[in-house]
Amino acid sequence: MFRNVDVGSYECNPFNEISKTHFLVTAGTKDAFNTMTAGWGGYGVMWYKNIAVSVIRPTRYTKKFVDENEYFSMCFFGDDKKAAVAYCGVNSGRDVDKCKECNLTPVFDKAAPYFAEAKKVIICKKVYVDEIKPEKFLDASLDDKWYPLKDYHTVYAGEIVEILVND
Ligand SMILES: Cc1cc2nc3c(=O)[nH]c(=O)nc-3n(C[C@H](O)[C@H](O)[C@H](O)COP(=O)(O)O)c2cc1C
Repeated sequence: MFRNVDVGSYECNPFNEISKTHFLVTAGTKDAFNTMTAGWGGYGVMWYKNIAVSVIRPTRYTKKFVDENEYFSMCFFGDDKKAAVAYCGVNSGRDVDKCKECNLTPVFDKAAPYFAEAKKVIICKKVYVDEIKPEKFLDASLDDKWYPLKDYHTVYAGEIVEILVND
């Protein structure tokens, strides 16, 4: 059963959660949604709001859904769903039904879709969007290393409106 927790009592180590466990970023409606694995992003405080950040390259099908909807979710899973998180990071929703292939159950009772199998869910309302710009890198090696195809991420900052924990 999911329960709501307030941000102040949300226990997490973002460095592990984001870069080691990874998460699924999901947006859309019951009729049309998509999800993908993300390994970059973060949490923090901006504009005196609790903010979560996700970054999405232009080639991802998920981007269309994040762009077209006001909310997105970030779902974190336990080890039982490691294979699903890996699958959603190398397959596109343009080609496969990720929910069916990974036994993921989408839930639509919040502002953004999320998955019944998740351990933690962060629902975010987009408040700021921008693209990574090559001329803004102070360390040019990052541009060379991560953007040989010039497919710069779009950065989505979302206000955290709900955190759900599945005990
Ligand atoms: C561990 C891991 C982390 C990833 N992190 C990101 C990310 O933060 N941003 C991004 O745009 N793509 C990321 N990807 C790649 C997308 O998940 C992948 O291209 C996916 O197939 C896109 O699916 P879609 O076309 O259905 O949106 C990651 C992939 C993996 C395996």
